[in-house]
Amino acid sequence: MPEFIPLISQQEIQEKIREIGQKITRDYKDLDLVVVGVLKGSFIFLADLVRHITIDHEIDLVGASSYEGTSSTGQIQITKPPDFDLEGRDVLLVEDIVDTGRTLVMLVKFMQGLNPRSIKICSLIDKNERREAKINVDYSCFSLDRGFIVGYGLDYNEKYRNLPEIFNLKLQS
Ligand code: IMP
Ligand code: MG
Repeated sequence: MPEFIPLISQQEIQEKIREIGQKITRDYKDLDLVVVGVLKGSFIFLADLVRHITIDHEIDLVGASSYEGTSSTGQIQITKPPDFDLEGRDVLLVEDIVDTGRTLVMLVKFMQGLNPRSIKICSLIDKNERREAKINVDYSCFSLDRGFIVGYGLDYNEKYRNLPEIFNLKLQS
């Protein structure tokens, strides 16, 4: 059985999301905000975050899966493109966790091809340990140095997304 070590409580998560939502509300006051959640890991974070963004905005979803090709840079597959025409709009990409940064670098490149006016990144967790790509997370709720975490949308082999708080997962050998 894996061991679950509590890391971030429901209360800490909710307090931080309120603060970030208020900041986004201020920053996008005069802009044309489209919040684009990255499937699947962001779905719970996205649902809580948008309830703290109190200016008018629209919500879309994008599906991306990254895999290692024969080249070391890896490749991205868009499994679900955004529904809206994002040209000239202010896109805020919402991710569960930025790890190596590869997924986001490639996703941002794809999104830039849709000609939005701006693209910024909001991530629940900014994990620094294995960062390879140069990526700036504009709105980060929590930073993590090391470890593998689950819960609040984050999975291990598609499980544990339903846990209401964030746990460090220790796999027994
Ligand atoms: P990146 O391309 O390495 O930044 O990959 C980020 C993706 O890897 C995230 O969207 C997650 O799906 C997954 N991931 C990375 N670290 C963790 C973790 O600690 N827990 C759960 N998923 C993770
Ligand atoms: Mg995942």
